[in-house]
Amino acid sequence: MKRITFIGTGYVGLVSGAGISDFGHHVICTDIDKPKIEALQKGQLPIYEPGLKALVARNVKAGRLSFSADVEASIRKAEVVFIAVGTPQGDGGAADISAVKAVAKTIGENLDGYKVVCTKSTVPIGTGRLVCDIIEKYKPEGVDFDYVSNPEFLREGAAVMDFTRPDRIVIGADSERAFEVMRDVYRPLYINETPMLHTGISTAEMIKYACNAFLALKISYINEIANLCESVGADVHMVAKAMGIDGRISPKFLHPGPGFGGSCFPKDTRALVKMGDREGIPIRTVKAAIETNNEQKHRMVLKLKTLLDGELKGKQIAILGLSFKPLTDDVRESPANEMIAVLTKEGARVRAYDPAANATMSKIFPQVEYYDSWEEAASGTDAAVIMTEWNEFRSMDLQTLKERMKTPVILDTRNVLSMEELREAGFRFDNVGRKKGTYN
Ligand code: UDX
Repeated sequence: MKRITFIGTGYVGLVSGAGISDFGHHVICTDIDKPKIEALQKGQLPIYEPGLKALVARNVKAGRLSFSADVEASIRKAEVVFIAVGTPQGDGGAADISAVKAVAKTIGENLDGYKVVCTKSTVPIGTGRLVCDIIEKYKPEGVDFDYVSNPEFLREGAAVMDFTRPDRIVIGADSERAFEVMRDVYRPLYINETPMLHTGISTAEMIKYACNAFLALKISYINEIANLCESVGADVHMVAKAMGIDGRISPKFLHPGPGFGGSCFPKDTRALVKMGDREGIPIRTVKAAIETNNEQKHRMVLKLKTLLDGELKGKQIAILGLSFKPLTDDVRESPANEMIAVLTKEGARVRAYDPAANATMSKIFPQVEYYDSWEEAASGTDAAVIMTEWNEFRSMDLQTLKERMKTPVILDTRNVLSMEELREAGFRFDNVGRKKGTYN
């Protein structure tokens, strides 16, 4: 059993902290955001993530997980300190690591004995060196520490499962002692034979960017293939299926759609491009993936416009789904943002519904009308647009939808509806990478 402190109780810190306490360790999740910690102490979670509430409650009850706003004391109590603070996009696309640097200083000042300091936040390659230098500068003389880079691979909406059943664990550590400590931290996974890769620190930092950018590339690739399928009359789903059967390609991340969003892919691809430019090694493929993604988001608006014969002004549009993917209330860089921004700019009235993200989106677009069901949002509208593949949209009753709408026009940017059923129900529709439909 280890004593572990997580600094930063956001998405990554909270899921990982709770997950590690579930492995049997004593974990303190700390944050400078006092109201957030007070809420957590009362059992209120700042994010919506399936399974997280139960995981937190179970470990709090067992006395293994606690929350504290006293960052300094929490550091002193720990054998392993995880850095899990935010690294938002800074000027010009590079990641802003000012919070990581501030935390490194606090760790240095409170280093009262040997500790392993481990970064989980996604940080530019070379940050490990910088964190070590800062800790060295502020730590008392004669006290030792080791540094580890341990990137996370958590998907929002599936983060708890990703944490407890990861494909692999990457531990970037120069010291064998630190690697041993980390292996103990992840002991249950190690026993389960989860691959545990011991790498250098920069390699671990690089792995995180290389994985995310590759997945983003894959999405942009299939989106461009989808667009070409539309043009030549091919079906992208069959194309993706046939591609995925090839073991070298794998079927995952080959779903065409309105473009990737979220807190990771957009930010990490831009940061990787920035790093490449800085090193004089331009990452052209990732640059292209970013450009394709921006185009894809806009292409959805053009599709809707075409369905409405070129006119958005004065139209009432139902936006079904706001989050960047299902099972989250996160709307950061969600394709719905671009859609709503253009619609409102061009004088359309937006009626929105998302099972989880109405509140988060209303902070960005207060002028939009938010409803508690797709039936209400679709009432009296000229067109409906599915922006997120929530399960409840897959099973929408098309007759009910048609009766609710002023005109039966639908843009399905996630390809969740059956084209045959849409045709039978008399919808005018479009989707991504498959045939368009029209009134009979
Ligand atoms: C991602 C990584 O998967 C995770 O390992 C990393 O740690 C954080 O970033 P996340 O952003 O939560 O996780 O979601 P993910 O499921 O990867 O989806 C990202 C975006 O890609 C979403 O907008 C999704 O709609 C889109 N996507 C995904 C596609 O358009 N097509 C696909 O085939 C897969």
